[in-house]
Amino acid sequence: MSSAEKDMNDRPVGIDIDSSRERIRLDDVQEMLSKAYWCRGITENEIKKGMDNSALVVGAYLPEGRQIGFLRVISDKVRFAYLLDVIVHDEHRGRGMGRRMVRFAISHPELKDVYQWVLITKDAHGVYEKLGFQALQDTWKWMSKWKARPERKEYDG
Ligand SMILES: CC(C)(COP(=O)(O)OP(=O)(O)OC[C@H]1O[C@@H](n2cnc3c(N)ncnc32)[C@H](O)[C@@H]1OP(=O)(O)O)[C@@H](O)C(=O)NCCC(=O)NCCS
Repeated sequence: MSSAEKDMNDRPVGIDIDSSRERIRLDDVQEMLSKAYWCRGITENEIKKGMDNSALVVGAYLPEGRQIGFLRVISDKVRFAYLLDVIVHDEHRGRGMGRRMVRFAISHPELKDVYQWVLITKDAHGVYEKLGFQALQDTWKWMSKWKARPERKEYDG
């Protein structure tokens, strides 16, 4: 599934949003994600392993092919989905791309049955709020367990 990108005024800007795994440019994704606060230094092999084990991967592409946006979704495609690794290249931020990628993912036909969406963000709440996300209301129900991030080693799977 693919969607032509439009700007804040709904004008097409030639950027394509697409869920094709074949189209993902790992080098572009690694350049963006390796600078992100939650996965600094992540390798292409780690990104590939994460993608292989995700229900949906989404990319945003310039007309010349370069990838300038990425996100992925971990899901059973029935009831639950976790949205993560949402990133837009720093030269293309503030033009609606992040929200458009998220909207594309949460309305994707393969995830149409999912009714519980969650994500974690440090400071990007504004991207998600207008799409219906809100802070956890019933925090006492939720549990989490955090481990120290393992030593970085190459994934050879
Ligand atoms: C967060 C990120 C994906 C947003 O992408 P973007 O294309 O710049 O965002 P958009 O232009 O679609 O912004 C949509 C809305 O979210 C708001 N927003 C964007 N980034 C925000 C941030 N970091 N904090 C709060 N609000 C933010 C915008 O102001 C805009 O609000 P509006 O509807 O009032 O105009 C991008 O800034 C990025 O890659 N940041 C670094 C990685 C990161 O923090 N990812 C999020 C992990 S949860």
